[in-house]
Amino acid sequence: MSKNLTDTVLLSPSIIATDLSLLGSTVSSFDSTSIHFLHIDVMDGNFVPNVTIGPGYIQNLKHHTSIPLDIHLMIAQPELSLIHYSECNPYFLTIHMESTRQPIRLLQQIKKAGIKAGLSINPSTPVAMLFDMIEYADMILIMSVEPGFYGQKFIPASLKRIEQLHNFINANNMDVVIEVDGGINEDTIADVVKAGARIIVAGSGVFNAHDINKQAKVLIQKACKALK
Ligand code: DX5
Ligand code: ZN
Repeated sequence: MSKNLTDTVLLSPSIIATDLSLLGSTVSSFDSTSIHFLHIDVMDGNFVPNVTIGPGYIQNLKHHTSIPLDIHLMIAQPELSLIHYSECNPYFLTIHMESTRQPIRLLQQIKKAGIKAGLSINPSTPVAMLFDMIEYADMILIMSVEPGFYGQKFIPASLKRIEQLHNFINANNMDVVIEVDGGINEDTIADVVKAGARIIVAGSGVFNAHDINKQAKVLIQKACKALK
């Protein structure tokens, strides 16, 4: 992970929080100076209760934007379909450690495809369970809500979890960035940045606003202020 990714804060709006049937035209108006990634939540109705979109939809979406994709797979046995998501050529491709028996192999496959490999952890999984796998990942995604739906309330214990991971990464001089996802808005963004998160996912915290580009700027400004 290049040093500048961990030295700055970047925003990755979660597109499931907007009208998915209009997404092509919605994303084409995004300002890439404050919307740094598009966070794409893939849900299968098995690993999580909700169902969203698949690789065909993501390929179509790419015709409408040049903003890099941040694909978050919330699917059981991602090994069965990983190749299709790799072919979408995202910047980050993230699997859940709870979704597979072979997380290290999958992270290696993602990296081999020239994509940054993300490993995500649910709120109820102890952070220490990740420690032996961090060296295989470029990014760790801490879920700050139970995965499955946008618009949920931030789980306060997530702050300690981010801090614990941040301290471990620093103590071991590791090259990995922390992303946080769930319930991030103007009230919670500063605290997650202070705890050590550098890529911020926000669904309703961005899309509930009338002017999305303006709201993204507000969030990123608050985040950068918390970094100082
Ligand atoms: C939840 C998803 C999140 C969600 C974020 O399972 O992974 O990305 O859409 O939405 P908010 O920010 O509204 O919690
Ligand atoms: Zn997500």
